[in-house]
Amino acid sequence: MVNTKVKLCGIEIDNPVIPASGTFGFGYEFAEIYDINKLGTFSFKGTTKDPRFGNPTPRIAETPMGMLNSVGLQNPGVDKVIAEELPKLAKVFNKPVMANVSGFSIDDYAYTCERIDKEAQVGWIEVNISCPNVHGGGMSFGTDAKNAAAVTKAVKAVTTKPIIIKLTPNVTDIAEIARAVESEGADGVSLINTLSGMRISLAKKKPILKNVTGGLSGPCVFPVALRCVWQVYNAVKIPIVGMGGVSSAEDVIEMMLAGATAVEVGAANLIDPYACKKIIDDFAQVMEKYHINSLEEIIGGAH
Ligand code: FUM
Repeated sequence: MVNTKVKLCGIEIDNPVIPASGTFGFGYEFAEIYDINKLGTFSFKGTTKDPRFGNPTPRIAETPMGMLNSVGLQNPGVDKVIAEELPKLAKVFNKPVMANVSGFSIDDYAYTCERIDKEAQVGWIEVNISCPNVHGGGMSFGTDAKNAAAVTKAVKAVTTKPIIIKLTPNVTDIAEIARAVESEGADGVSLINTLSGMRISLAKKKPILKNVTGGLSGPCVFPVALRCVWQVYNAVKIPIVGMGGVSSAEDVIEMMLAGATAVEVGAANLIDPYACKKIIDDFAQVMEKYHINSLEEIIGGAH
């Protein structure tokens, strides 16, 4: 019998598989097709202080082995998330959930995190300082070590739950940003958010995305994500949630060997809504094949 349990920032989860924010709604939508209590946890739709309609369409473009999105943090705002979405989730999910929070100023991040922190079902808060699709917020905090540290400090001052800072790969040295947030008390880091990219329509001779650029995700980014997890594992002591192009139990194990304690699955959910369930179901067979008894024991094992 293999052991898939891991401890993420002091909270034990049944397995390290976490559907990534923006690919799993508020969870209850997926509960209509399978029991989502099978998951370690999941990261819910990125939530901001105010409701957001998101960017103009088209905001999705295909590319070989991946996709570009420029959704622009569409969400109903923190008031509605607390009043309507979390009560619906509580009816179908009996585990701690990871809240995902974005902002356009340090005060925004602090306000939304303080509100979300009080929700009983929230286990961790993933603070997204890496969205490449909005102006005047998101990634602008994650590409500068001082700004990243300032958001972390402000959020830590008003919260009690573990804070996981979500990092962008669109930087020269992701390890420097990880060290900066660790130094201000981050309890963990998650990485990578999407890589900034674009496509041009040959028929229209114009960018496909209305926003011109978007975030690249899917299997094509997996080696980049793995390299970032490896580098950050060498730089910090706090747990890492690895993500980027993960679509199989083998990918999860590879990410853990690089240094991830848990692993988020993003674009794969958009191709197959059962993707995370299948990964979890495959663990026993894949772990036996590679002579792994316990997932917790392989974290960072390739170093
Ligand atoms: O555009 C978006 O909503 C994407 C968010 C993100 O990648 O963090």
